[in-house]
Amino acid sequence: MSGKNATETVFADAKGIARAANILAGGGLVAVPTETVYGLAARADSDHAVARIYQAKGRPSFNPLIVHVRDAEQAARYARLERDADRLARSVWPGPLTLVLSRREDAGLAAAVTAGLPTVALRAPAHPAMRALLAACDFPLAAPSANRSGFISPTRAEHVSASLDGRIDLILDAGPCEEGVESTILAIREDGRWDELRPGPVDLDALHQRLLGAPRESGGAGDAIEAPGQLASHYAPGKPVRLNAAAAAPDEFMIGFGDVTGHCSLSLRGDLGEAAARLYACLHEAARSDLPRVAVAAVPEAGIGVAINDRLRRAAA
Ligand code: TXA
Ligand code: MG
Repeated sequence: MSGKNATETVFADAKGIARAANILAGGGLVAVPTETVYGLAARADSDHAVARIYQAKGRPSFNPLIVHVRDAEQAARYARLERDADRLARSVWPGPLTLVLSRREDAGLAAAVTAGLPTVALRAPAHPAMRALLAACDFPLAAPSANRSGFISPTRAEHVSASLDGRIDLILDAGPCEEGVESTILAIREDGRWDELRPGPVDLDALHQRLLGAPRESGGAGDAIEAPGQLASHYAPGKPVRLNAAAAAPDEFMIGFGDVTGHCSLSLRGDLGEAAARLYACLHEAARSDLPRVAVAAVPEAGIGVAINDRLRRAAA
């Protein structure tokens, strides 16, 4: 990489993590690996540092950020873990579940983190490098996905530098992300109801049944856009996307799945976990291609396929 604006990428080893912690302590921006996607981290207790996240991403200020913590104990400083929240946190964390809970008055988080909402989104990520980083920081980390607002999320360090090079202070590289789609977001309401705000790797129906021994009520998720990441157009490769395609037109970059082959494949063997892990890498490849359009094979609406199809519909919107 060249040019005076280039952001340095370093391996997420002990030295890289120590350097990242130092930059974050000083209010800087570091792209960090998580098990879902790469995040763009800043200290969540600093107005100045959090403002830099919005600026680097070109993110609208009404879209709040997820606060990353080590564990349920640290989370309890920012929100009251009432009703099922404590059990959920203790059984799923560290892992790809974000809990939206009532924020504590004395949370001490930068106001922009929650965009004026009375709630806060909290997650303890499982990636060992991110866990080591959180252990080295005596503050929580606000971190949205490390991409320009509205575009494809990053699952590799190269994806981060392709969209944020020169706008952030450091990229910690730990190779490709294992899960490949963003965390499941669950809001726990005052009345105890569970609302899924974003589908992801954690299957809430299975979790509800396991923890509470009863099926989850499929309450109407409301019509307010509460998680603005759920706006119609998102994850966009910058060219038209056609879904459920059986074959490509001559001017289309084809993303295959299973028997439907293409310029690249989400999973040749039709494995949904592999498809989730490869989803954004395939979309990045499609975005870089000279072909002006994108076609994507049908993906089964089951398990993690629900989250894959959610992202594909928004990429196509
Ligand atoms: O897997 C993930 O969750 C990744 C990694 C980096 O942890 N992060 C991520 O962040 O996907 P982001 O900013 O791309 O998506 C966060 C979503 C947005 O849709 C935002 O609107 C929603 O979380 N959100 C944040 N705080 C909220 C709150 N208090 N109430 C409702 N939604 C909230
Ligand atoms: Mg995002």
